Amino acid sequence: MATNSNPVFKRRPPPSALRPPFFTLGVETSCDETSCAVLKGKDTILSNIVSSSLFRHKKFGGVVPEIASRHCMEQIQCVFEEALRVAKIKAKDLDLIAVTQGPGLIGSLFVGVAFAKSLAYQLKIPLAGVNHMEAHLVANFLGQLEPKRYIGLLVSGGHTMLTFCEKGKIHILGETVDDAVGEAYDKVAKIMGLSYPGGPTLDKLAKQGNPRAVLFTRPKQEARFGFSFSGVKTAVLYLLNDPKTGKPKSDAPSQKDLAASFQHAVIGWLVEKALNAAEFKKVRDIVVGGGVSANSYLREKLTRDGAARGIKVWFPPFEFSTDNGAMIARRGFELYKRGIRSKLNMTGDPGLHISS
Ligand code: KG4
Ligand code: ZN
Repeated sequence: MATNSNPVFKRRPPPSALRPPFFTLGVETSCDETSCAVLKGKDTILSNIVSSSLFRHKKFGGVVPEIASRHCMEQIQCVFEEALRVAKIKAKDLDLIAVTQGPGLIGSLFVGVAFAKSLAYQLKIPLAGVNHMEAHLVANFLGQLEPKRYIGLLVSGGHTMLTFCEKGKIHILGETVDDAVGEAYDKVAKIMGLSYPGGPTLDKLAKQGNPRAVLFTRPKQEARFGFSFSGVKTAVLYLLNDPKTGKPKSDAPSQKDLAASFQHAVIGWLVEKALNAAEFKKVRDIVVGGGVSANSYLREKLTRDGAARGIKVWFPPFEFSTDNGAMIARRGFELYKRGIRSKLNMTGDPGLHISS
């Protein structure tokens, strides 16, 4: 194993190293996906290969960490080779390796990080450890001119937070005190007997129901930009089952109405707080990232309500909404340009905080 004294990581690259073509490999293994992407320069995605282990978790109703990490181990080499093949480049053409350092599942993270470190060492090229949540935000900026100041709304299966971003630095304004919004979708779907992941299924079902059939009480969440979603999940449980006997209720709302009302409530809270944050920070852009950014009602409502206040709302293209290597490559490239490198003793960090 190389040490910090490896000369490749001691000095900044000469300016010529950024001359095109500059190829970044993005490696993402934070959860149940194994993904590698090749980014040319700052904006051109040459390949973005994703191998999901979702089908292996479905019968358990959620991601099983050991199954996820084993899948990453099995897949990483062939996903990497496929990413190079589609990009029509060889490993020796790569200039930088960007890899998800955290947050995420420890076993999955370790697979990607070990792979990326070995490759960087072998190819004698720099390594950039990337924060997965920061990458979700910059997934919006591929081929776009990035706003100087914006509110970042991060909504995934593991996180829900509002951030303020200025000059490439990201500050947290508030986050959930319990479940993440994606997690709430998944848990509510499970209570309703729907398959994992619940987000896309509930989103589809919600379109057919009455959003005002059930009125959910707002969480007693004091923090101005904080969230709480565990109460609404419990409310769904008791709408369907008697809290005393645990038996299904005869007067329970229909699945369609429940899905529509749940979606109407939680997305309403997200939209309201994101718009308040934009007003508070006096910014004209809101950038959304994370798996829940695929939600149709969030896209529609935040875009509409934002436009009414003169705010532009950014959503990533669908293929970059959920976990992918392309966003990791892009964030890694940005860090590299700022002179930030990771050493070969870097490790995966399941609880990595936003720190830029
Ligand atoms: O960012 P992501 O791919 O993985 C994490 O880093 O967590 O997000 C996955 C989450 C899951 O909880 C899934 O249910 C949710 O994103 N999700 C959705 C939708 N598509 C995916 N939630 C609501 N509506 C959707 N259309
Ligand atoms: Zn994610």
